[in-house]
Amino acid sequence: MALETTTLFDEADALSRQIDASPVGNAAELEAFRIQFLGTKGLLKQLFGRMGEVPADRKREFGQRVNAVKELAETKFNDAKTALEAASAQAGPDFDLTLPPLPPVPGSRHPINLVRQKIVDTFARIGYAVAEGPEVEDDWHNFTAMGTPEDHPARDMQDTFYIAGHANMLLRTHTSPVQARVMESQKPPIRIIVPGRTYRNETISARAHCVFHQVEGLYVDENVSFADLKQTLLYFAQVMFGEKTQIRLRPSYFPFTEPSAEMDVTCLICHGEGCPVCKHSGWVEILGCGMVDPQVFENCGIDPERYTGFAFGMGIERIAMLTYGVDDIRLFTENDLRFLEQFKAEA
Ligand code: DAH
Repeated sequence: MALETTTLFDEADALSRQIDASPVGNAAELEAFRIQFLGTKGLLKQLFGRMGEVPADRKREFGQRVNAVKELAETKFNDAKTALEAASAQAGPDFDLTLPPLPPVPGSRHPINLVRQKIVDTFARIGYAVAEGPEVEDDWHNFTAMGTPEDHPARDMQDTFYIAGHANMLLRTHTSPVQARVMESQKPPIRIIVPGRTYRNETISARAHCVFHQVEGLYVDENVSFADLKQTLLYFAQVMFGEKTQIRLRPSYFPFTEPSAEMDVTCLICHGEGCPVCKHSGWVEILGCGMVDPQVFENCGIDPERYTGFAFGMGIERIAMLTYGVDDIRLFTENDLRFLEQFKAEA
């Protein structure tokens, strides 16, 4: 027993010499030192753990001895740590304040935003005021007032999202209900341009999305004629797509206009030569339009004997796709910077 105890005291002495000799000149050495001697599985813990081997009458002395060795290790560790910190502070911060900053990355306008702004500006120049309406709309304004009462077959033209639990509320399927809202609350002359978001229960694909944007136009006054509509749309097409642009109107059907038409413009890509975008016809369809149906005037409290008017509506995504040669409508909502950055020059 006596011999073993002597050995343990010797081990404490040896440990203290080992501590003295261990290098702590840099951060890595310091950390290795901490782990070896002061760590939870370090040599000091191990030595303390052998207290049981020390005879009762020498336990106190042994404890004091090992504690002294521990203090030695802690002092050496703390001194070295302070010295290293002081040295690195003197070397200065590890960043260079004189480096020039990274160049700022300017954002860009979204292509839908650019096209919408151009359409609105074009009509603002000839006296149209911007009007807006709610995206959560009631059945009356979206359909009934606009010539599509319940059970009317034209309701099938648009797949509608209804609001659960509110039979008469829906997400507007077009911007046309804003026509009704404005006519209910304003007296002619009315000249409005209505940009806005619209919703249809469409399967999302390269050509269709359930959320998209439209711009609606409405002009109501005495003696407004189809010739006024045609001239206004020709002006619009030439400002929007270039002064050589031609338009053509094809007879069509909308529940809120009579007569109704769809307007084509000479292809924005090939200017009429023929290309895959216009399917080699030289023409692309841009919008729907027509003379406001007298029944719509009546629904909105405007005297159809006194007033006439025209209306038109177009999809912003479609025009943006034709303008920029984008072949997948989903790109507009995916927020891929590689796509969006390309519109920087036009911001
Ligand atoms: N609301 C129609 C649609 O979403 C577009 C439209 C066609 C609007 C003719 C009009 C119009 O104002 O006169 O398909």
